[in-house]
Amino acid sequence: MREETDVINIIDDTTPFSVKEAYRLLRANIQFLSPHDGCKVICVTSSVAHEGKSSVSYNLSSVIADGSSKVLLLDADLRASHLQLSLGSKGKEGLSDILAGLASSEDYKSLIKKDENHPNLDILVAGKVPPNPSELLSSERMVTLLDELKKEYDYIIIDGTPLCLVSDMLVLSPYIDGYVIVVRAEMTNKKILNKSVSMIKKINGKVLGFVLSRKKQKKSERYYYGEYGSSKYL
Ligand SMILES: Nc1ncnc2c1ncn2[C@@H]1O[C@H](COP(=O)(O)OP(=O)(O)OP(=O)(O)O)[C@@H](O)[C@H]1O
Ligand SMILES: [Mg+2]
Repeated sequence: MREETDVINIIDDTTPFSVKEAYRLLRANIQFLSPHDGCKVICVTSSVAHEGKSSVSYNLSSVIADGSSKVLLLDADLRASHLQLSLGSKGKEGLSDILAGLASSEDYKSLIKKDENHPNLDILVAGKVPPNPSELLSSERMVTLLDELKKEYDYIIIDGTPLCLVSDMLVLSPYIDGYVIVVRAEMTNKKILNKSVSMIKKINGKVLGFVLSRKKQKKSERYYYGEYGSSKYL
């Protein structure tokens, strides 16, 4: 049971300048931290539920796409996707249907949708909730699909599940260039965050960095530039 609305937090015209800047900085950091050629596969995860993974995944994908790279946002939360709910795609076919071999079309590309606000951003939603998400994500079909997708995109951003609750994001590690871990201010516990980092390191995964979500800014920490104001949250 969620304590809040199921709608993810999407940046738009009303979003404060400093929040947009924080996302541009995140984009720059990711570009520097993953310098190899070809498609980069980045997984956005967190320790527990509701820390802001889907919001960060969508906003990060859109800011990278605005910078002219071709981006696929891959919704890999096969258990409880709030991304597809927020995008109005609840009940539609998606990743789970492709992986289970149950998609109505042979061509997986027909299930990938263009984001209406960002021309370079495509989205593949999670699809119907399957009984065996981990098995599907570690299947041969997933490997084949990722190989195909990597030919089409500069970045694949995976909206993941929480590390300390399910193993789904760890089974994907051989195909992930790096993990971004979302940490929710005043909620994420240090011990549990350390556990998440250890889990990734144990499987030789790379932690690219952390995103602190929902940090309330003190007045003294606010940054002003020209007429632009500041924000309540980073
Ligand atoms: N920076 C933010 N400011 C305000 N609200 C936020 C922010 N980031 C996320 N939220 C809100 O917090 C809730 C959880 O966010 P989100 O769905 O992105 O998290 P999640 O980690 O993907 O959750 P889940 O584990 O259920 O997939 C949503 O209601 C979202 O609108
Ligand atoms: Mg989510």
